[in-house]
Amino acid sequence: MDKLVIEGGARLEGEIRISGSKNASLPILIASLMADGDVFLENVPKLRDINTTLELLTLLGCQSHFNGHGLVEISAGNLVPEAPYDLVRTMRASVLCLGPLLAKLGRAKVALPGGCAIGSRPVDLHLRALEQMGAGFDLDSGYIIGSCEGLRGAHVIFDFPTVGGTENLLMAASLAKGETILENAAREPEVVDLADFLNACGARISGQGTSIISVDGVPSLSGCRYRVMSDRIEAGTYMAAGAITGGDLVLTNCPFEELEAVIAKFREMGVDIEKDARGVRVRAGKDLTCVDVVTLPYPGFPTDMQAQIMAVMCVARGSGMIKETIFENRFMHALELIRMGAKIRISGQNAVVRGGVELIGAPVMASDLRASASLVLAGLVARGRTEVQRIYHLDRGYEKIENKLSSAGARIKRVSQ
Ligand code: UD1
Repeated sequence: MDKLVIEGGARLEGEIRISGSKNASLPILIASLMADGDVFLENVPKLRDINTTLELLTLLGCQSHFNGHGLVEISAGNLVPEAPYDLVRTMRASVLCLGPLLAKLGRAKVALPGGCAIGSRPVDLHLRALEQMGAGFDLDSGYIIGSCEGLRGAHVIFDFPTVGGTENLLMAASLAKGETILENAAREPEVVDLADFLNACGARISGQGTSIISVDGVPSLSGCRYRVMSDRIEAGTYMAAGAITGGDLVLTNCPFEELEAVIAKFREMGVDIEKDARGVRVRAGKDLTCVDVVTLPYPGFPTDMQAQIMAVMCVARGSGMIKETIFENRFMHALELIRMGAKIRISGQNAVVRGGVELIGAPVMASDLRASASLVLAGLVARGRTEVQRIYHLDRGYEKIENKLSSAGARIKRVSQ
């Protein structure tokens, strides 16, 4: 198993290219199984979760080819309606094939995702909404077995604007009979990207990006060529890297409007972030200040940036409170940051960070993807050497993180254990 070894203290300076979005690519790849023609996707990042999704598509009967430079070609063949446990347990997003399989084949057998390091993460809202469209579900030996006699349009009001639930329903409703209205739908840019992709395949979706989405079902979807959006969370993470090292970075291929809440918080901390001709420039001095952060559904501050901003707050002046409202149990990184000298107190949904400490390098272990990113950030500024273990989490969501950081001056290397 690999680890990352970081010698802290280097100021980051230079240009970093932001990759395609992982969280937009996953549903778009899965939606491709519904297309009758070939799908060509550009700007797909080279990540473990993408490989897992391509493996899933193969098991479901699709053929795919990833050229390794962002281009994926997919053609759906004779579909097989089963997503096995071995795959689903490594990537919870596999549950997104439920809607497309039901829409295409009228049946689906998908392993129920188990417990997850950042909370229980059930899929009850996905199932309830699909039931409203005419699907029935049984649970057998850890599998969700779904079937339907053709899906029909429905009026769904989500209890919570679930990202995955909205995506599953968008895909199912695209091939259903009649109109589906999704209320209290997720407004995340990745949901909009999926809707735009489906429309490029001939779906009739409107209202994406607002909390009411309407989908007019069509009999079939065609192939298309589509460019996936850039990764706003990866971009936000490199903004945090610029901030924590007092650096000067230019992020190219970088989303900007989609990062409004994140940029606003970094600016409040004292980071200078501007869009210029080359990309998004991030400049920070030594005297950042802590802020208060509440994670919320989009357009609020994303839960996927909570761990990273916590790392920056550890070394900023003053103190700040972080409230995590999306996931339970998403403060595991705090315990590791404390091992590096951070002053953080957790109480339920809240974390109070007392900033202004000098972090000291240590061997640390991450529990999930974004937690790993926060430990890398802490390592960049810590005195001495930090070893981040279990970096398979990072490889799920950050393309070539050590290359990108070292190209901007970080002393970081991957070591095989
Ligand atoms: C997606 C993102 C993830 C991000 C999250 C919130 C992908 C692959 N993952 O995850 O990176 O952190 O959005 O922005 O895009 N919930 C239920 N029942 C359900 C569905 C969700 O109770 O049926 C709860 C979850 O347990 C969680 C909250 O709702 O507490 C948010 O979940 P959701 O928005 O569905 O996130 P994901 O799609 O899993």
